[in-house]
Amino acid sequence: MPDISRRNALILGGVGVASVAVGGTGFVITQGRSSGSTSGTVAGTVAGKSLVEPTEFRSADGLLSIDLETAPQRVTIAGRDVNALSYNGGVPGPTLRVRAGDTLSVKLKNGLADPSNLHVHGLHVSPEDNSDNMFVTVEAGDSFDYQYELPPDHPPGVYWYHPHLHGFVAEQVFSGLYGAIIVEDPEPIPADRERLLVISDITLNSSGNIPAASAMDEMTGREGDLVLVNGQLTPDLTARPGERERWRIVNASVSRYLRLRLDGQQLTLLGIDSGRYESPQEVDELLLAPGNRADLLVTGSAGTATLRAVPYDRGSADGMMGGGSSRSGEEVALATFTVAGEGVDTPPAIPRQPAQRDLRTETVYARRELVFAMDMGGGMGAGMMTPTINDRQFDASRIDATVQFDSVEEWLLTNTSTLDHPLHLHVWPMQIIEQDGQPVDALLWQDVVNIPARSTTRVRIAFEDFSGKTVYHCHILDHEDNGMMGIISAN
Ligand code: C2O
Ligand code: CU
Ligand code: CU
Repeated sequence: MPDISRRNALILGGVGVASVAVGGTGFVITQGRSSGSTSGTVAGTVAGKSLVEPTEFRSADGLLSIDLETAPQRVTIAGRDVNALSYNGGVPGPTLRVRAGDTLSVKLKNGLADPSNLHVHGLHVSPEDNSDNMFVTVEAGDSFDYQYELPPDHPPGVYWYHPHLHGFVAEQVFSGLYGAIIVEDPEPIPADRERLLVISDITLNSSGNIPAASAMDEMTGREGDLVLVNGQLTPDLTARPGERERWRIVNASVSRYLRLRLDGQQLTLLGIDSGRYESPQEVDELLLAPGNRADLLVTGSAGTATLRAVPYDRGSADGMMGGGSSRSGEEVALATFTVAGEGVDTPPAIPRQPAQRDLRTETVYARRELVFAMDMGGGMGAGMMTPTINDRQFDASRIDATVQFDSVEEWLLTNTSTLDHPLHLHVWPMQIIEQDGQPVDALLWQDVVNIPARSTTRVRIAFEDFSGKTVYHCHILDHEDNGMMGIISAN
């Protein structure tokens, strides 16, 4: 039986269900195309309530067994009634908290009008049978029993789940289908408080519906007018001076890059995705491409700070008809962090993390190149460009890469287009060893690796522990739905 943790709800005085908590009066803030100008105000939205976290389910005795039900749901977002899609009634869906070695069993009930399925992003689990199998379709009204066996040495960190049915992914995620998975640390990291921040963006029309994306939006990757934290608009967070908070941040946006800053506060990054630095890094900012997560410590200094997404240039569709442009280039206020009151003692030192494996010292069995391009014509219509990998669009009946199980490969990722593409590979994490011809000195392991416009990145991957067939794709989910995905088989 799942154990519903009330801890976060008690700390925050909420009811433990995200997104239904923002209501009543608030102040209208400017959040939109040009932060700071009145033209960006989204009519009728409210902001500035205490951060509320999703309901949490925690494993007990090695098992977490839950039902996840997708359904159209009327939720309150930023003070407005919105027709969204939800897991179990919340946006985001419930948080699943497990440990290495656990079994996670999920009955997915699909209450949508469209088919769907479930993906556990970043988990190192089998891609076959009823585990993280990308070739399962759960028709409208049907259900499916997933079972994920986490190996005993599964890396700790923040992961997430979302639908993954080709052609429906961007729309279903943009409409509210995402939730976090936390794999706990074998040795706890001392902190006064833990928070989960699931960041997403959404667009609402005047009747509270989420409009369909235009062909141009799909080409560039749709970005929403509102950027939400746990389904809320600029929530408030409070702490006392000296307190160390642990923030687990998920970029659940379809296409928006998040270059995050929290000026005036001390930020210590434990790692991105499942990667864990041996010694935590002091940082001023961090970049999360769509799909990336951060495991971050924030040490409070008296004052009020704004968690901001500052401009990041992910390129544009220059030269394409209409010149679609991205909006990660705007600055957005995401949350207000107020540190006040009596100071507390510094928490104990952060334990050193185990040394990470370095594939640069290992033998490479095979090399391959993946070329990410925006090709003229193709499926997206006249004047539009079609996202491709090695000049091909996704084909469910074709295996694009056959790799030797238990071998290390080196992949050269070449982006010939004027837009960034964040590559995501299921099951096996990637070590980034070179960017634009320059060797990377640090040990960097991620499951989403950004390939900036007109540049190259080199990664190494150990195809071990699990064999079988899965996918790699651009995590701008509009690009994935429009064909920037391939099938890989390890055996
Ligand atoms: Cu987050 Cu293949 O996905
Ligand atoms: Cu994934
Ligand atoms: Cu892309």
